[in-house]
Parts: sequence; structure tokens; C-alpha cells
Amino acid sequence: MTTPRDLADLYPYPQTGRPWIRTNFVSSVDGAVQDRRGVSGDLGGEADLRIFRVLRSLCDVVLVGAGTTRAEGYGPIPRESIHPELRDGRAEVPLLAVVSRSLDIPESLRRPGVLVVTCADSPDSERERLAQQVEVLVAGGAQIDWPAVLDSFAARGLTRVLCEGGPRLHGTLLDHDLIDEACVTVSPHLIGGPTKRMTETSTFTERAMRLSHVVEDGNVLLTRWLRDR
Ligand SMILES: NC(=O)c1ccc[n+]([C@@H]2O[C@H](COP(=O)([O-])OP(=O)(O)OC[C@H]3O[C@@H](n4cnc5c(N)ncnc54)[C@H](OP(=O)(O)O)[C@@H]3O)[C@@H](O)[C@H]2O)c1
Repeated sequence: MTTPRDLADLYPYPQTGRPWIRTNFVSSVDGAVQDRRGVSGDLGGEADLRIFRVLRSLCDVVLVGAGTTRAEGYGPIPRESIHPELRDGRAEVPLLAVVSRSLDIPESLRRPGVLVVTCADSPDSERERLAQQVEVLVAGGAQIDWPAVLDSFAARGLTRVLCEGGPRLHGTLLDHDLIDEACVTVSPHLIGGPTKRMTETSTFTERAMRLSHVVEDGNVLLTRWLRDR
């Protein structure tokens, strides 16, 4: 039986002295990241849940787009979702950093343990209201300034970044060539219909990746890909 520690040993964060962005998705064999309900829910089953928890346990900050938090009903990272033995002296749970321009942030996220990342062009009144409830990081004017966000993370010691999507945030990070690593659980389904893929960009964008490993967990594959710079 593979333990969380065994799995964690396959996912070291390199010591680069800068924030390292790992992304984690579950995808059908043919690239769908949503099930029939429009969430990732049933795609990867127990195997995906196992790796999801291990990857959360290894990071300092979970970075996620507001669209995913609204679709998937996110709250601050629950203690029960974390393996304490993998925290190695880090905070008890990772911070949750939610990326949004509209600042349409669910009530469930207006809690300690949440940081909202936005730009100065977000609605002023909502930003002021939100800042009474959670920490708000304003980086950039019309668009989010990603180097500034990562500098701010680094200054706080948040160098192990785990991006849990969704496709639009992932697309932005791909555009900026900020994805260092992609962990993809391949779920045993073919899914047609109007579903999203892992990455949404407005123009064709390609980055080379190299395979780090593939682990079979029953009928599911856990794959890890590193940016081939
Ligand atoms: N299978 C999987 O592993 C997986 C993982 C994640 C998500 N998903 C699925 O993906 C779907 C959501 O897709 P999505 O593309 O809407 O997700 P998303 O990227 O999480 O959300 C898009 C929203 O996030 C904010 N955002 C993202 N990038 C931004 C940027 N660079 N600057 C400012 N704001 C930014 C914006 O929020 P505002 O609108 O608030 O401005 C934007 O409307 C859901 O169905 C979810 O279940 C699947």
C-alpha cells in the first residue's frame, strides 16, 4: 500500500530560491476537465483524491482562479485535507490565494486563511469591503502583474506554489511561461460535449514539457511533467 509519504517523495519542490509553480489537474483521457455536472468531482476517484491531498500537503500556497472556487464551492483549506506529517515545520495548512478581477468572491472564502489576488482595475468599493474581511493583494493596474505577485509570495516565504486551476488562470500562467511543473491525473474516461480543457488562452501557446514520472494507481495514471526550459 502506498503511503502519503511514498507519494510525496515523488514530488519534491526544487530549491530554486524563487516561487516554483506546480499545477494540478485531473483530466479525462481525451482532455476534459469537467464531469457532467461541470466540476472535476467524479473524474479521478480515490486515486485523484489521494494525490490532491498530498500535493496540498506539500505546498505553502494554493493558487486558484475565482471561477473554480465558485464552481467547486471552495473554502479555506480544511485541516482534514492535509497530512500533518508532510508539513515539515510549515504552517498547519497552506494559504489559499484566490485570483479575481470582478471580486465576486463567495462568502465561504471571506475567512481567515484566504488571500485575494487582484489588480487595481478591480471594483474599488468591493475591494475596500473585501479588505475588511480578508487580505487583498493588489498587483498591477489593468492586468495582474504576475512577477509582482510572485515577489510578494517570495517575500512571505511562500515559495511552494500549487495552482489548482482552473483553465483560465492556467492559461494566463502559461502565457507568462510561469508553469514549472504540471501534475495531471489521467482519469479513465472519454468525455464528449462542451467541456473545458486544462488550459484556456486567447491565442495558440505551446511550451515544451518533459516527463518526470508516471505512476499507475489502479485504473488511473498520475503523471508529472516538468517545464523543459
Ligand atoms: N479537472 C480539474 O482538475 C479542474 C481544476 C480546476 C478547475 N476545473 C473546472 O474548471 C471550471 C472553471 O474554469 P475557469 O476557466 O472559469 O476557471 P478559473 O481560471 O478558475 O476562473 C476564471 C476566473 O478566475 C479569475 N481569473 C483567472 N485568471 C485571472 C487573471 N489572470 N486575472 C484576473 N482574474 C483571473 C477571474 O475571476 P473573476 O470572474 O472573479 O474576475 C476569471 O473569471 C470549473 O468547471 C472547474 O470545475 C477543473
